[in-house]
Amino acid sequence: MIAFHQKTADRGNIIDGAGYAAALRERLAVHVANLKAAHGLTPCLVVVIVGEDPASQVYVKSKGEMTLAIGMESRTIRLPDTTSEEELLRLIDELNRDNDVNGILVQLPLPKHMSSLKVIDAINPDKDVDGFHVSNAGKLAVGLDGIVPCTPLGSLMLLKDAAKAHGDTLAGKNAVIVGRSNIVGKPMAQLLLAEDCTVTIAHSKTRDLAEVCRAADILVAAVGRPRFIAGDWVKDGAYVIDVGINRIEVATPDGPKGKLVGDVDFDGAKVHALAITPVPKGVGPMTIACLLNNTIKAFCLQNHFPIPDGV
Ligand code: GUN
Repeated sequence: MIAFHQKTADRGNIIDGAGYAAALRERLAVHVANLKAAHGLTPCLVVVIVGEDPASQVYVKSKGEMTLAIGMESRTIRLPDTTSEEELLRLIDELNRDNDVNGILVQLPLPKHMSSLKVIDAINPDKDVDGFHVSNAGKLAVGLDGIVPCTPLGSLMLLKDAAKAHGDTLAGKNAVIVGRSNIVGKPMAQLLLAEDCTVTIAHSKTRDLAEVCRAADILVAAVGRPRFIAGDWVKDGAYVIDVGINRIEVATPDGPKGKLVGDVDFDGAKVHALAITPVPKGVGPMTIACLLNNTIKAFCLQNHFPIPDGV
């Protein structure tokens, strides 16, 4: 008999973030079921959103749905943008003291009259499933086990998986991260340092950014500017992680239409990259899957349960 293989979904060098995230959520659902069976308790994530930012509303809805889909409890607290900082801090204090709440996420950005640093600082670090609290940021910086920010954690999982698929590891590689935010750039740098990469954090004042990027074996783009990284800034054989999610308008025969693009010129870069994440369906789904991962970890830490393998 002649055996033949048909590749139904040959995605070449495009990293399947959506597929990886779906598989991760399946594993997490098993952990949730096991925890319920063993202890009669269910992890609970509370997401707080202040104001009406349309993109934030979409993300928060998706976080709630995915939390429920893996069997956890989900609460979404929607506050008007007239809420005072003091009222939000009072709510966080209540959630910190509520033993039924294991994870607290305050969706960013907050309205301008609030200090996100002050709000994040008010969250109990053990319930800080975003990993943004200085306590968790500090643990990451000194190599202690804490809660790691979701987008960098998901990006690292995809990078390690892509390297493994090529019989490769991250150690010794030149990693360039474009963007120095507390949410992505800085924690990503810490994670890649811990993987023994040589790390450069580039930003808006970096001289010869194109040349800096061309030296990268691993290029992480987190600048929030559509297609900012040109295709010819990508070294042949580089791993490219595009964290950007930018909505642009494109002309179509039916008039202008909204389209999501990353921080990297995908069509130009994919010719050079060994592996590259698309937008959408790249890093985005990993961020939510890692949020669920962090909620399970927080739940186990709070209850002194062993942390399931891989979480
Ligand atoms: N806004 C955009 N990304 C994030 C995130 O990862 N966490 C929170 N809290 N807000 C965000």
